[in-house]
Amino acid sequence: MSDIPVILQTMAMPPRITERLGNRYEVLRLWESQNTDELIEARGSEVRAILTMGHGKVDAGMIDALTNLEMISVMGVGYDGVDVRHALSNGATTTNTPGVLSAEVANLAIGLVLSVTREIPKADAYVRDGRWLKADLPLNKTIVGRPIGVVALGGIGLAVADRLTALGANVTWTGPRPKPDAQYPYEPDIARLAQQSDGLVLCCPGGPATRHLVNKNVLDALGPEGWIVNVARGSVIDEQALVEALMAKRIWGAGLDVFEAEPKVPSALFDLDNVVLQPHQASATVATRNAMADLAVENLDLHFAGKPLKTPVKV
Ligand code: 8YV
Repeated sequence: MSDIPVILQTMAMPPRITERLGNRYEVLRLWESQNTDELIEARGSEVRAILTMGHGKVDAGMIDALTNLEMISVMGVGYDGVDVRHALSNGATTTNTPGVLSAEVANLAIGLVLSVTREIPKADAYVRDGRWLKADLPLNKTIVGRPIGVVALGGIGLAVADRLTALGANVTWTGPRPKPDAQYPYEPDIARLAQQSDGLVLCCPGGPATRHLVNKNVLDALGPEGWIVNVARGSVIDEQALVEALMAKRIWGAGLDVFEAEPKVPSALFDLDNVVLQPHQASATVATRNAMADLAVENLDLHFAGKPLKTPVKV
């Protein structure tokens, strides 16, 4: 085996990654390969690490094929595409990039909350279309003094809760278990939280544990004046149920950065003016993506220097 570690990069990533990797690694570019199975068969046993993004797929089959895999570095806080447990049972640790994106993602979440409640995109169209000349825009919704539910109080959820509080809202949160040091009241049942809140902001991890956590029942609990913002994963909402609720105005509105089959977005949403759509861009600023790339490469470097990983995923 050569001294230069071989890394399998599964998907196109920002140029910062390539800059930071320098010439310390040999990078196999899986997404550019004509025949990925052939590449893995020919070089798989040399691969010591995988580099991928938050939504990248690294399944048990791929992990098994890489017989000398030592680690998986994910550029992203979410790692629902990676079979972390299987990797660990094969001796490979996974790292992600928490912390460095929390403020950025929370800022976009707040942007969506205000876009939905204050109807900013709709009001923009109102001015452009000349409708203001005929009548004032109908009044919209405040978050000041209003109850809002935050789903999951991790790094991003906490940043969202703090920002909502600064804007005058009253936050309650839900998650699988209470946190003894949380400064916000806890409600274990998401449907009850929805029922008590004007809106929900989803900040939880994706994956099987949260799949369709927001279903028709939760949407009905939010009710016709309720709204929802999702900066987590599309899988957290039953998208079909959401589309139906929005179309029938059984909920007030939604701000969505993520979708079940993104980049495919249900076309029914395009005709609705109570929805604000984003192309999964909550962490997508130059500075934050650079910080995420740097941390992803730092974890690789630490591993190959035999040092403790900075942000290993705990399973
Ligand atoms: C990015 C994300 O969209 O970090 C995550 O989990 O969803 C986002 O920051 C992207 O997956 C970056 O890898």
